[in-house]
Amino acid sequence: MRKRKRWRRNFHVSSFQALDKALPKAQIHVSSPGRVNLLGEHVDYNQGLVMPAAIDRYVLLAAKPRPDRLVCLKALDFEEEVAFSLDRLEERVDVNGQPLPLWALYPAGVAWSLQAGGLPLRGAEAVYSSDLPIGAGLSSSAAVEMAFAVLWQELADWRLDRMQLAQACQYAENCYVGVKCGLMDQFACAHGVARHALLFDIQSLSWQPLPLPMDTTIVIADSGIARNLAGSEYNICRMECEQALKILKEKNPDIQSLRDLSPYEFETHQADLPEVLRKRARHVVEEIERVKQASYRLVENDADGFGQLMLLGHQSLRDLYEVSLPELDTLVEIAMGINGCYGSRLTGAGFGGCTVSLVKSENQEGFTSVLAERYLSKTGKTAKVYICQPSRGTWVENLTTEHLK
Ligand code: GLA
Repeated sequence: MRKRKRWRRNFHVSSFQALDKALPKAQIHVSSPGRVNLLGEHVDYNQGLVMPAAIDRYVLLAAKPRPDRLVCLKALDFEEEVAFSLDRLEERVDVNGQPLPLWALYPAGVAWSLQAGGLPLRGAEAVYSSDLPIGAGLSSSAAVEMAFAVLWQELADWRLDRMQLAQACQYAENCYVGVKCGLMDQFACAHGVARHALLFDIQSLSWQPLPLPMDTTIVIADSGIARNLAGSEYNICRMECEQALKILKEKNPDIQSLRDLSPYEFETHQADLPEVLRKRARHVVEEIERVKQASYRLVENDADGFGQLMLLGHQSLRDLYEVSLPELDTLVEIAMGINGCYGSRLTGAGFGGCTVSLVKSENQEGFTSVLAERYLSKTGKTAKVYICQPSRGTWVENLTTEHLK
């Protein structure tokens, strides 16, 4: 474990060295983690409870201010660069009037969102790279958004709290990029706590860190099937929940969101819904209950109980919400058959991406290699498997004031 920690720290340092080479005299370094969701899937946009953790894989950003209103960005991983003006964000174009590439919509969107909130921004030069797999459901986009939100705050003389920054990023993704995501990802990147899962109530915006069961490790397996949230499937899920709510509300005006229904109350109303919407709503209502139960399991340090809830969550995403894929089901099935695995499920929106498993720490190495081997022999596909630790949320180092600390 200690060896791995040292390796990750060295990786962090050498990645920043590469960024500093690409942008000499950088004044600011930002580290922004991805996230994995342990439980509470597709419930954030229904005002529910979620339980993500920030993970020790990051978007790293080096930057310095510019005296004008331009933002010059280099994405080292794509070997691409773009420049745009803070005065033409609404148009989504670069300095030559060409449409911004998709990857640049995230930083530009955050700038647009902050400016829309009346916050003044400064031009900047920035270069970034990441060891988070892209399109794998580990919130590389939220990590990029939070990195830039924190950068612009650092360059300016205003301050927002973490929740407000996360909300500004969500607004950017909803209205600038066009994905109607909930708040979970940006929240988790912003609020991560080392070694803890985060229990977050979207309705009240209250949250608390909960320690993972003792001697357990999070293992993430990337099915190798990329999913693209900018595609329509995610927005369809959201629409179906809205339709279900509309029907339930017609008969029961007190129901403001699917969150307002307990599993028991749902039983008394479910006959009002057509079959597909009934399945979607049932998942949401029961998944919120699972998050509550899971938080008790963490308080009791009950890894078995927590793992069972993860597996039930997966089955519900597969059968009721219908966002799993055979590859994700196979990864979960294999994981559950390996010694030391407490629970496993798809994580994030689904339609591809990753599974997350809770594994006894002493079994983690064996688990990782057996999972990859069996997945290859069953599907002919290669899974990338990552052992992860919950990380702190996005943080910034101002290199010009570092000596004062
Ligand atoms: C994506 C979204 C989140 C959440 C999950 C599903 O990650 O960005 O807001 O809805 O899907 O739980």
